Amino acid sequence: MEATRDTPPSRRGLLKGLALVTWAGLVAALGLGLGAALRLAGAGSGPRSRPRLDLGPAAEIKPGQVVSREDVALLRDANGVYALSLVCPHLGCRPVWRAEERRFLCPCHGSAFALDGRRLMGPAPRGLAGLWVELDSQGHAWVDPNRGVDASRRLALG
Ligand code: FES
Repeated sequence: MEATRDTPPSRRGLLKGLALVTWAGLVAALGLGLGAALRLAGAGSGPRSRPRLDLGPAAEIKPGQVVSREDVALLRDANGVYALSLVCPHLGCRPVWRAEERRFLCPCHGSAFALDGRRLMGPAPRGLAGLWVELDSQGHAWVDPNRGVDASRRLALG
C-alpha cells in the first residue's frame, strides 16, 4: 500500500523536474542566442561612436587661435569657426599646434599642417580631416568626432 501511494507523486515530481529543466534550458538557449545576435549586430557597425565634444564659447575664439580638446581642434578664420581632427592621416599620431610656427606638427614623422588643415610637408598623404561643428543655444561649439566634413566648411558666427 505504502509503495503504491508513493509511486504516483514521485513520477509527478520527476516530470515536474524534467519540465523545469527543459524550460530552464530553453530560456538559457534563448538568452545565449539573443546575446550572440546582439554581438554580431554590434560587430557589424564598426567602432563605437564617440560623444560630441564641447569646445567652449565659439564667439570667444579669435581668428587664428586654436582651441583643442582630446584629438579635436576648433579654429576660426574670417568666414567662421571650423573643426579639424587631430589624427594624423599618415599613421594616426596626434599633431600638436606649434603657435610659433603657425602650424600643426606631427611628432611621429614630421608631417606639418596649416591652420586650415592643408598638408604642408611630410609623409601624410593628405591634410587634416574636417569635422562637423555646431553651436548650442548658449553659443558653445560642439564638435562631432564621428562626422567628417570638407575641411573648408565654416560655421558663420552671427
Ligand atoms: S603619423 Fe604623422 S607623420 Fe607619421
